[in-house]
Amino acid sequence: MKRILVVGAGGQIGSELTPHLRNIYGDSNVIASDINCCACKQLGEAGPLEEFDALDGKKFAEVVKKYKVDAIYNMVALLSATGEKNPQLAWKINMGALLNSLDIALENKCAVFTPSSIGAFGPSTPMDNTPQDTVMRPTTIYGVCKVSGEMLSDYYFQRFGLDTRSVRFPGIISNVTLPGGGTTDYAVEIYYGAIKEKKFTCPLPQGTFLDMMYMPDALNACVDLMEADPCKLVHRNSFNVSAMSFEPSQIMAAIQKRIPEFIMDYDVDPVKKAISASWPNYMDDSCAREEWGWNPKWNLETMTDDMLKVIGEKHAKGLI
Ligand code: SER
Repeated sequence: MKRILVVGAGGQIGSELTPHLRNIYGDSNVIASDINCCACKQLGEAGPLEEFDALDGKKFAEVVKKYKVDAIYNMVALLSATGEKNPQLAWKINMGALLNSLDIALENKCAVFTPSSIGAFGPSTPMDNTPQDTVMRPTTIYGVCKVSGEMLSDYYFQRFGLDTRSVRFPGIISNVTLPGGGTTDYAVEIYYGAIKEKKFTCPLPQGTFLDMMYMPDALNACVDLMEADPCKLVHRNSFNVSAMSFEPSQIMAAIQKRIPEFIMDYDVDPVKKAISASWPNYMDDSCAREEWGWNPKWNLETMTDDMLKVIGEKHAKGLI
């Protein structure tokens, strides 16, 4: 893999994945792209940056050809809570970007990475130790897109031999670009609240266990899967991956250990409550461990140290 296009590079994951890939493959070999490059202009300082809408297949294909791209990381997504506000738009964006990625990849012999999510599961899925291969009947449009995307990606692999790979990401916790419109966003926002105001109002009820992961592990998951020996992959779309599972009062306690005056209260959002209740408490990610060596490094304690340090420094410099 030599020339990579990151579509949706301005988003929560894309904004950190792009520099990560550039460190590995070289600045000029990783092309960043987004529908609106205003917020991610700095990605254009180190390497190529292209502005286009992933739903515009013509422009998308032109960029792939211009840079002789051989791998597409499709990071375009409208997340779960936003999706419920406009399901038709969520389908159009999430499936449209994927379908274009697959068709353009097929025409140009590229590999494709697309994240799936814990959102691909639903209320009839076993909640504890959720198996790799199990019932998937999501009740959100985001989840419906993710399951459809997994199946479509496997279909392109089986039918056309396209090299498609994917992980089911849990909530991703990070400190560069804020997520937006997701159900797991609280686990990012709580750290900003802790640093800026020493308080946070949680939109999920106490006791809501969800899988989570710190961004450095998520970046390694993308690259390690894409670099994995295809002969060892029994699965492709998509692998359960997790690094930790906690509920709101546990992340609150981890912050209070470091900032004793921090307080948290609850103002439960009914949409997020219903969505989170339909997702697993914790997944079994043993297939990812066996097939391509998934091995996360960060847990709630080490992540909390790092998040508070990084966000604290940004706050001290007046950046947030
Ligand atoms: N973080 C996503 C969301 O909450 C889940 O993949 O929508």
